[in-house]
Amino acid sequence: MFLWKSTFCIFFFHLASTQWSNYSFPKDFIFGITTSAYQIEGAWSEGGKGLSIWDYDLHQNSSLVVDKTNGDIACNSYHRWKEDVELLKHLGVNFYRFSISWTRILPLGGKDTKINDEGVKYYNELIDNLLAEEILPYITIYHWDLPQVLQDKGGWLNETLIEDYVFYARTLFQLFGDRVKHWITFNEFFQFCEVGYSDGQRAPFVSSPGVGGYQCSHNALLAHGRAYRMYEKEFKSIQGGNVGVTVDGSWCDPLTPTSESDQGAAEQFTQFNYGWFTYPILLGNYPPIMIDRIYVLSKQQGYESSRLPAFTSEEIKMIKGSYDFLGLNYYSTYLCTFSDNFSQPSFESDCGVLSSQPESWEPSAADWIKYSPWGLRELLVWIKEHFNNPPVLITENGWAYNSLDLDDTERIHYLNGCLSEVLKAIYEKECNVIGYAPWSLLDTFEWTMGYTLKFGLVHVDFESANRTRIPKRSYNMFRNIISSRRLE
Ligand code: BGC
Repeated sequence: MFLWKSTFCIFFFHLASTQWSNYSFPKDFIFGITTSAYQIEGAWSEGGKGLSIWDYDLHQNSSLVVDKTNGDIACNSYHRWKEDVELLKHLGVNFYRFSISWTRILPLGGKDTKINDEGVKYYNELIDNLLAEEILPYITIYHWDLPQVLQDKGGWLNETLIEDYVFYARTLFQLFGDRVKHWITFNEFFQFCEVGYSDGQRAPFVSSPGVGGYQCSHNALLAHGRAYRMYEKEFKSIQGGNVGVTVDGSWCDPLTPTSESDQGAAEQFTQFNYGWFTYPILLGNYPPIMIDRIYVLSKQQGYESSRLPAFTSEEIKMIKGSYDFLGLNYYSTYLCTFSDNFSQPSFESDCGVLSSQPESWEPSAADWIKYSPWGLRELLVWIKEHFNNPPVLITENGWAYNSLDLDDTERIHYLNGCLSEVLKAIYEKECNVIGYAPWSLLDTFEWTMGYTLKFGLVHVDFESANRTRIPKRSYNMFRNIISSRRLE
């Protein structure tokens, strides 16, 4: 009880005492907000839509989600999207980042399928209405909802999926590219590959530690590069748009700030967790430390070759520089020190770093997010230094509650804290940050956490047939920031 009280006091003292940066956001800095198809659309079997891996797996086994729910209805945005557009308009955002459900466009996923006109109509209406309100659509092509028919062939472990993905991406450019000028090929390789194909904790729930995640991400990185080059060759000169990619990045500080060993561990953590995907896209290949360590450990473990697949020289040429902007999802920071448990093949032992978060950092309802906004600035500086200051669009950043939270002071505190660090990164470190979008417009279906975690700036009443939407205090706070271009 005493402990609880003291944490509570420290937290509110912190809330009251924080000063945000006084800088204004640069003139061309853009504000947006984010969602994803499976998490908001619902209508899982309506309008000609095919089955995705999330539809399929959660219908097979409802216990995969803590509250045994699924995205069958979610926020019902398939039917209530006009309310979403109203909310976006009132918020005053420059862009809306949402994803397209692959099986709403191509119900059977691959090349041999017919395009589903009802799905096309749904996204056409959404896009046209956004543009009528001067809100730019930023479309994520893949936010984890793979067609089940393609998973039946091995999903991202099967390299034939690269062709299917490129076909799907081309279909989207052909259908919507006359109006959509900003595309994001993938959302968070780590989460759908490592968590989906190594840990078995996300669809398709495949458990293959130290192997599946690398194969998945190798194929997905190639699919990203191929789609980027295809747009560049076939569409760029006609449509004039940009293609980026979103990688999630946490920051890691050394567990003991003065320890050189812990400083090395923190860098190694970033190379493995964030460099794994950004190094190939920006520099052409995996970080050397990943290539070396995984090779050595694979040999020691009796594998004939490295568990990390290798790019050919042609592939390196193709993938290097395959981005127009780099999307960044940042939520939290960790503390790092080296670990020495290398016996079993796994990403954790390949990485060789233990990460933790101290009890004293203010917790959110999500066990992996604690109040640590400085890490966002640190990561932006790291990106600038490692990759020659590419344009970075912050495509997600958010704070979780687990109950009704219309007066969401902690979220306001967190978003201001992160935006304050973004301003410092821009003005004091000359980082090329071009925009910011929090996660999420709405409370959504939060994957295996079901409806127990709420990230929305707008509350959704999942008990009501209408899925009534009520803006929270953070929505008004963000609205003020967008219009004043300063922190409150
Ligand atoms: C994902 C979102 C998810 C959010 C909060 C991100 O990793 O892109 O889909 O809801 O984190 O967990």
